[in-house]
Amino acid sequence: MDCLLIEGGSRLNGDVEVPSAKNAALPLLCLSLLTEEPVHFTNIPDVADMRSMLRLLKGLGVERLSSGALQCAKIASVVAPYEEVKKMRASILVLGPLLARAGAAEVSLPGGCAIGERPVDIHLKGLQAMGATIDLEGGYIKARCKKLKGCKFVMHFPSVTGTINLVSAAVFAEGETVLENCAREPEVAEVCDALIKMGAKITGHGSSTIKITGVNSLKGMTWQIQPDRIQLLTYLGAGAITGGSIRCFPYRANAMNAVLQSFREMGCEVVEGANDVRLTAPSGKLKSIQIETAPFPGFPTDAQAQFMACLTVASPAGAPSMITEKVFENRFGHVGELRRMGAQIQVKGNMAVIEGVEKLSAAHVMASDLRASASLVLAGLAAEGKTKVSRVYHLDRGYEKLEEKLNAVGAKVRREKE
Ligand code: EPZ
Repeated sequence: MDCLLIEGGSRLNGDVEVPSAKNAALPLLCLSLLTEEPVHFTNIPDVADMRSMLRLLKGLGVERLSSGALQCAKIASVVAPYEEVKKMRASILVLGPLLARAGAAEVSLPGGCAIGERPVDIHLKGLQAMGATIDLEGGYIKARCKKLKGCKFVMHFPSVTGTINLVSAAVFAEGETVLENCAREPEVAEVCDALIKMGAKITGHGSSTIKITGVNSLKGMTWQIQPDRIQLLTYLGAGAITGGSIRCFPYRANAMNAVLQSFREMGCEVVEGANDVRLTAPSGKLKSIQIETAPFPGFPTDAQAQFMACLTVASPAGAPSMITEKVFENRFGHVGELRRMGAQIQVKGNMAVIEGVEKLSAAHVMASDLRASASLVLAGLAAEGKTKVSRVYHLDRGYEKLEEKLNAVGAKVRREKE
């Protein structure tokens, strides 16, 4: 297993080129199941989850052409096996496309994970509302329906992958499907835009109500995936916590307004350009702030751990910060490890109160999930001494060449086998 050795204390300054978004790429690749024609994504991110998804899709009949395009001339299997799904719960994203294209799908029921129980009831209830028969057998979701029918369905929570699965399932359904209380994340909107380019009839994406009118088939296309707003904010956070100045590009406006607002509340200067965004930390300490995570356009839960790292050194001996995690029930896995670096954090239920300290101190810490590992890296960049972050396979699921990018702006990060 790999670990990262981080020598803290340097101010980070410079430019970071941000890879494409894992949470857009994962559902986008699944769209290859919906057409016999090649679909070509020009900038698939080089992260572990993408390799898992490509392996899963290959088993279903998706070939990788020499051009790099994906083509599913015909469905070879409708089974997403436990061995693949247990490694990556986003495998559930093949459920809607398989049902739409092949009329059947057998997807291992994703278990919970470090951050929460992660049910998929919205996905299943929505498909049942479209006429699918859903059985749970031997740990598998067995879904069947010759021809899905348009329906009205209200989600009890604006689930990101739930919305994407139901939109994908509805593209060939008979008549109109109206989905309400949909997720509004930029990644959801992008999947809908890509489906429209393939010939789907979709309106309302990016809002809470999405309407899909079924068509008979979809065609291939070429698509450039949007930049990863979560990797981007992580690099801005590296600038904030080390008192430096980081410019990230490419950048899409209005994909992270709540995050930029919180950086500004912490005292950072944030300047947005047409295709970049620059953060400059305040000359003194970061200010303590309050954060409450919420579905888009609210403050993203995927930024919570990174901001907590920054807030561990905000207004030392001043007013505390408060973070309330309202999306997942167990997303404070990074707290115990940050405490080991000297952070003063009290957790009460889904609330964390953070008393800023003058300095964090280096320690050997352990990553527990993707964003917690990013939080520990940020803390290591600011801590006095050499921090060792173990189990960085969590980090490799969603960050591309992280240590290379950080070292290019003045960090001292080394990857080692442990
Ligand atoms: C997506 O997960 C992201 N993953 C997560 O990113 C992200 O944290 C999350 O959206 C929220 O933004 C991908 O896009 C691959 P949800 P998803 O369904 O779709 C409840 C990362 O770090 N819920 O929006 O699984 C659920 O319990 C990952 O990149 C139901 O109750 O999240 C949770 O409380 C982590 N029933 C809330 O909704 C359902 O059927 C949000 O879940 C589905 C969800």
